[in-house]
Amino acid sequence: MEAIDLLLSRRSAAVLIGPGPDEAALELLLAAGAHAPDHGRLRPWRFIVIQGRARERLGELFAERLQRSRPDASPDALARERAKALRAPLIIAVAAVPDPHSAVPQIEQILCAGAAATNMLLAARALGFNAVWKTGAAAYDETVKREFGIAPADALVAFLYIGTESSGHDGPTPPRAWRDRVSYWPDPPV
Ligand SMILES: Cc1cc2nc3c(=O)[nH]c(=O)nc-3n(C[C@H](O)[C@H](O)[C@H](O)COP(=O)(O)O)c2cc1C
Repeated sequence: MEAIDLLLSRRSAAVLIGPGPDEAALELLLAAGAHAPDHGRLRPWRFIVIQGRARERLGELFAERLQRSRPDASPDALARERAKALRAPLIIAVAAVPDPHSAVPQIEQILCAGAAATNMLLAARALGFNAVWKTGAAAYDETVKREFGIAPADALVAFLYIGTESSGHDGPTPPRAWRDRVSYWPDPPV
């Protein structure tokens, strides 16, 4: 697929199943993430790979978080939280870990981590997979951050769920409106 077609047809996957990326494809995904625009070459991101049985542990983390925030959460609600971590064969959590001593503004460093996540979404499609970007309350939970080895001040900017798009959920991508979000400056042109 031409790169421009890949960009213009990107959309999130509705349902992801196996197979997920193998080790070689995973390395390409991570390398694509590392090729994101990076002001100051700070690499202000961390990529945390979660696959296989580790997803069950992530599901427990999700359920524990819900239980902490809502001690009356029903068994069904807790089961739904656990199941979230199993919705794709591979999860890459992306953390923004800005350097507070850098002259590069924090927001730019966080944007770099977001750009790394986007690169990995697109790379997944380029490799024949698809993905969806989620955050949810777990991304803002200090216990979850600590489990991933990142500080409370850092940001978990993405859980990228990556796998094979289930057929029947992989229809064409309708074109998206963009003209009403574009202006030319100055108007009238000089
Ligand atoms: C930073 C970020 C966080 C997101 N978090 C969630 C989320 O927690 N739950 C969710 O359903 N969608 C979330 N989304 C939106 C989906 O990834 C997706 O973009 C959206 O459903 C629109 O679909 P599309 O990617 O096909 O345009 C998030 C997107 C971004 C960029």
